[in-house]
Amino acid sequence: MIKKCLFPVAGYGTRFLPATKAQPKEMLPVLTKPLIQYGVQEAAEAGMMDIAMVTGRNKRAIEDHFDTTYELEDQIRGSSKEKRLERIRGLINKCRYSYTRQVEMRGLGDAILTGEVLIGNNPFGVILADDLCTGDEGIMSQMVKVYEKYQCCIVAVEEVPHDEVSKYGIISGDAIDKNHTRVETMVEKPAPEQAPSNLAIIGRYILTPDIFDILRETPPGANGELQVTDALQTQASAGKVIAYRFQGKRFDCGSIDGFVEATNYFYKLLK
Ligand code: UTP
Repeated sequence: MIKKCLFPVAGYGTRFLPATKAQPKEMLPVLTKPLIQYGVQEAAEAGMMDIAMVTGRNKRAIEDHFDTTYELEDQIRGSSKEKRLERIRGLINKCRYSYTRQVEMRGLGDAILTGEVLIGNNPFGVILADDLCTGDEGIMSQMVKVYEKYQCCIVAVEEVPHDEVSKYGIISGDAIDKNHTRVETMVEKPAPEQAPSNLAIIGRYILTPDIFDILRETPPGANGELQVTDALQTQASAGKVIAYRFQGKRFDCGSIDGFVEATNYFYKLLK
C-alpha cells in the first residue's frame, strides 16, 4: 500500500506572471478550486493520505489552504455559504500534511530529492499539480494498480504532437500491451529529430525510494537542472520503469492554453 504522495510546488510559475508574483501558481483556481486541491484530492482517492509538499518562498498560501481559517469559518457558520468549504474540510481532516523547503530551484529532480526527509524509505506517488488530470477513475488510483502488478517505478504517459516533444520527458521501450511499456530509453526535452517516440511523461509518477540515491549521483541535465528523467533512465536500464498510458484527460495548467481549456472543460460539466 502506498501511503505517501509528494507534491513539488517550489517552481516560480513564470508563465503566469504577474499573477504568480506574490502567490503560488498552484493556488490559481480552475473554477472555485485551486490546482493543488485537485491534486491532493486525486492522491487521497488513491489512498495516499500522507501529503508531503516541497515548497519555496511565497508558498505560504498553500499551507494556509490546508488549515483551518477560524475567522472566516466563524463568520459563515450556520449560513448556506458553509457548504462551500465542505470538500476542503474533508481533505484537511482525512490527510496529514508535511512541508519542507527547496532553497534553490535546481529542477524537479532536486525538488524530489529535497522531499526525501518527508518520504523516507517507502514507495511514493508524485503529483505535479499544474498537470490537472481527470478521469472516471483518478489517474493516481490507476497507477497504484499498475504498481501493485509490477512493483517498480511507474510513469504516466500520453501521446503528444511531434513538434511538442521538446517540452517533455520522452520514453521508448518494449510494449507489453496497448497501455503498458517497459521503458528502455528516457530523454528529457529532446529536439524533435532526437526524440525516441512521441510518448511524453506527464506529471504523475510512482517512485521507489532507491531513486533518492540515484538522484544524488545524477549530474545536472537539460537546462542545467537536476532532472528526474535522467535518474529514471538508470532505473529503466535495469528494466525497472513501466510507462502507463492512463485513461482520462490531462490539462497542462502550467500553460495559459491548458489552463483556459481546463476551465472551459470543468465549467461545461457544471451546466
Ligand atoms: P515547471 O517546469 O512547470 O516550472 O515545473 P515552474 O517554475 O513551476 O513554471 P514556469 O515554467 O516558470 O512557468 C514543473 C513542476 O516542478 C516543480 C514546479 O513547482 C512544478 O510543479 N518544480 C520545478 C520544483 O518544485 N522545483 C524546481 O526546482 C523546479
